[in-house]
Amino acid sequence: MPLVNELDMLKKAYDEGYAVGAFNICNMETIQGIVEAAKLERSPIILQVSRGARNYANPLYLKAMVEAAVLDSGLPIALHLDHGDSFETCKDCIDSGFTSVMIDGSSLPYEENVELTRRVCEYAHNHVPYVTVEGELGTLAGVEDEVSVEHSSYTDPNMVEDFVKRTGVDSLAIAIGTSHGAFKFKPGTKPMLRFDILEEVSKRLPGFPIVLHGASSVLQEYVSMFKESGGEMKDAIGVPEELLSKAAKMAVCKINIDSDIRLASYASMRKYILDNNSCFDPRKPLGVARDNITKSVQHKIRNVLGSSNRA
Ligand code: G3H
Ligand code: 13P
Ligand code: ZN
Repeated sequence: MPLVNELDMLKKAYDEGYAVGAFNICNMETIQGIVEAAKLERSPIILQVSRGARNYANPLYLKAMVEAAVLDSGLPIALHLDHGDSFETCKDCIDSGFTSVMIDGSSLPYEENVELTRRVCEYAHNHVPYVTVEGELGTLAGVEDEVSVEHSSYTDPNMVEDFVKRTGVDSLAIAIGTSHGAFKFKPGTKPMLRFDILEEVSKRLPGFPIVLHGASSVLQEYVSMFKESGGEMKDAIGVPEELLSKAAKMAVCKINIDSDIRLASYASMRKYILDNNSCFDPRKPLGVARDNITKSVQHKIRNVLGSSNRA
């Protein structure tokens, strides 16, 4: 089976009331760790590449490894550009075989976001095979690459129909209170998401797939491992898993997770290196990191996203 079109995956998820996990990859261990979890759960998955990961790993290498994962697993896997910032970046990914791209014009004035997104859709949809496009309305707080946004602005449901109609996007990322990174909510406050906005958006866009960014839960097990190995991490608060499960049963069909993969792998490597002073074989800490990525992704697929046995 070749890489699959993301839109087919999202439509199935919408109809059956679950979400597909979109996990960020940056090297062989992240790809293998995530794909092993999907194999164990017979789940579809989206592997996504940020601009930072493209610069780090070279997209040619990442694409070749993802193709190996498709061959190895036989699973439906989509390869997605995360937070594309320009027409050129999206075009580059489309031309090199990504099956889906995100064009993130959310920080631009509305009309500029519409125009940029429309241009990417025109190119992607005329490409053979069809490439799926994700747009964004509303901004998330947090850090994406070098861009740091201090305050989020929720998506205005009154704007979504116009945006989707004029751009032709296949899916839409909305801001309902999540943010990128490990520090998502103020300490001492109850983490909450604006499900009222999600409901309003889905009323205006019936049957249309919605995407949730900034959806790491910041698993306590790995926060503790990170701290016990001397790492500093104060007040890390993720999105409670029950809120993600609720969103997955609604119109949210794609849930983006990066920080949890980073934390599981980095905490594991720190602990391994600290516990094994005489080791100088990089495969050892990287192998433990890969195993813990599998463990946390398997947990998400089975207990949070609901995508087990949907491949
Ligand atoms: O949404 C952003 C992702 O977490 C990617 O982060 O650009 O540092 O790879 P990165
Ligand atoms: P997290 O930082 O919550 O993992 O979000 C990742 C993301 O949205 C990637 O686009
Ligand atoms: Zn994101």
